[in-house]
Amino acid sequence: MKIKSLLSPLLLIMLMVSCSKENNISDPANGENLVSDLISKMTLDEKIGQMMQVERSAITNYPQDITNYFIGSILSGGGSAPSNNNVAAWADMYDNFQSFALKTRLKIPMIYGIDAVHGNNNLYGATIFPHNIGLGATGNFNLVYDVERATAEEVAATGIDWTFAPCIAVPQNERWGRTYEGFGETADLVKQMGQSAVQGFQTGTLGSTSTSILACAKHFLGDGGTKDGHDQGDVQISESEIRRIHLPGYDYAAKAGVGSVMVSFSSINGQKMHGSYHWITDVLKGELNFKGFVVSDWGGIDQLPGDYKTKVETAINAGIDMIMLPYDYKTFFATVKQLVSEKRIPEGRIDEAVKRILTAKVQLGLFERPFTDRSLISKVGSAEHRSIARSAVRQSLVLLKNDNSFLPLKKNASKVLVVGKAADDIGTQCGGWTISWQGSEGKTTIGTTILEAVRKALPVTTQVAYSLDGTGASGFDYAIVVVGEKPYAEGNGDRSDLSLSAADQTIISRMKSSGIPFVTVLISGRPMILGSVLNDSNALLAAWLFGTEADGVADILFGDYKPTGKLPYSWPRSMSQIPINSGDPNYDPLFAFGFGLTY
Ligand code: GLC
Repeated sequence: MKIKSLLSPLLLIMLMVSCSKENNISDPANGENLVSDLISKMTLDEKIGQMMQVERSAITNYPQDITNYFIGSILSGGGSAPSNNNVAAWADMYDNFQSFALKTRLKIPMIYGIDAVHGNNNLYGATIFPHNIGLGATGNFNLVYDVERATAEEVAATGIDWTFAPCIAVPQNERWGRTYEGFGETADLVKQMGQSAVQGFQTGTLGSTSTSILACAKHFLGDGGTKDGHDQGDVQISESEIRRIHLPGYDYAAKAGVGSVMVSFSSINGQKMHGSYHWITDVLKGELNFKGFVVSDWGGIDQLPGDYKTKVETAINAGIDMIMLPYDYKTFFATVKQLVSEKRIPEGRIDEAVKRILTAKVQLGLFERPFTDRSLISKVGSAEHRSIARSAVRQSLVLLKNDNSFLPLKKNASKVLVVGKAADDIGTQCGGWTISWQGSEGKTTIGTTILEAVRKALPVTTQVAYSLDGTGASGFDYAIVVVGEKPYAEGNGDRSDLSLSAADQTIISRMKSSGIPFVTVLISGRPMILGSVLNDSNALLAAWLFGTEADGVADILFGDYKPTGKLPYSWPRSMSQIPINSGDPNYDPLFAFGFGLTY
């Protein structure tokens, strides 16, 4: 008699479902069981390994160390790519590293992090979206979700599971080189943008699809509020001001289920964030009930006071769970072992850190899907993603001046002049964090420049000429003049003077002298001091760092779409006005937060 014949089909189905549930470890109940089961089996060495994040270049030649030191996470710093910078090479690299992680006794998969902050921007050929300043100008939270969803697909195509984004800084001083990484100057805009970004990267519930990647809200806390906008500087305001301006983004991110938070290099009233038990453990993990894990910034613990052993002790006891070393994993490994044996780090703290890290890995589905899903390869730079990026570009542009409705430009012009090096430079329009850490001028990746977009938008009967510096402008119906900042990232972008360069000012005055009407398109990571440029231009369009899809700029210039962007930062009249933020007393910017013209 076959047992099956005794079981009613319904009972059989119920049995199958319950079994499948037992196997589905990303189910919260089962995930917790797996995590606590693993921790109960792990040695101290295996636990310490999970807390180490190592740069790929430090182990490329020693992948066996992933196994020997139980390394739980690997990262690519800005621009750190396999020698062949293509999707297959990234996926092969990822899978190779993962194969060594799965050689460990407990076969715990490693998690790989990267700065995919405006697309999978380390990857040649990936779609590059507007930096956060442009997304903030769109005011469109659904668009931000779509942008980060597309980014997640292009990250997952390389095997990588974790992006160090969104940056939810609330920049208060445009001298800061990372202003463009922020969505804007108000807690209200940033918290909602950050929430949408987290949900886009993680696809709502973490691990719910194969392209769900771990998000990372950064940099906790107050990175955008340092005195004079100094990168990695000191925030010198009251706790209540810090809570009002800089904390809401983390509250929203925690509620959105963000899987990780990165600590800021900066300090609050003289105390380094990497050593702050109050903010990391009491506030983030306690008050905000953040359930993910906390990761340090790049070598951030090395900036703490004291000898190395003290730095490690301070950082881990403050509540940091994973250390972005990123190089000397052998010293760190030995140091933590010593600190635990000397009871300077409680083993309970180690267990709490490892529990948070393993929980994220389980929720992400890493135990079930540790290797690259090669079916995603066609997502990279896809027409669908470039179309989303083009829409984001359109919605990010802010029209600041439009005398006598100069824009939209007429398509039936016979002679059009495009002016400026930045008008034909993919690297410039993408800005920092593109292919390399700092970004660079030139044809650094695949995309469309403004010059190319203008040529595509106009009829073949229109003569489109190009001038680097605006000489020979007479006789044209109008000109499109592109000026602005060269690429930079982080502290390299800190400026005490935000005036346009002398070369740019010369171009604008030359165009003014030519007598032909022109629109100035400003490519920059922040509001700049415009001086005579505003008066000299018939129209002025802030384009920020819009990425690879310049067709979106042409869409607005020629009126296929109306400009809808609104300023995410107050636009100062002069350097002496900075910092200037909406809500300030005697608030009198050149253009207010939220300003933007349309047709
Ligand atoms: C950098 C940045 C941080 C980035 C990390 C890894 O120093 O501060 O935003 O995620 O290192 O590249």
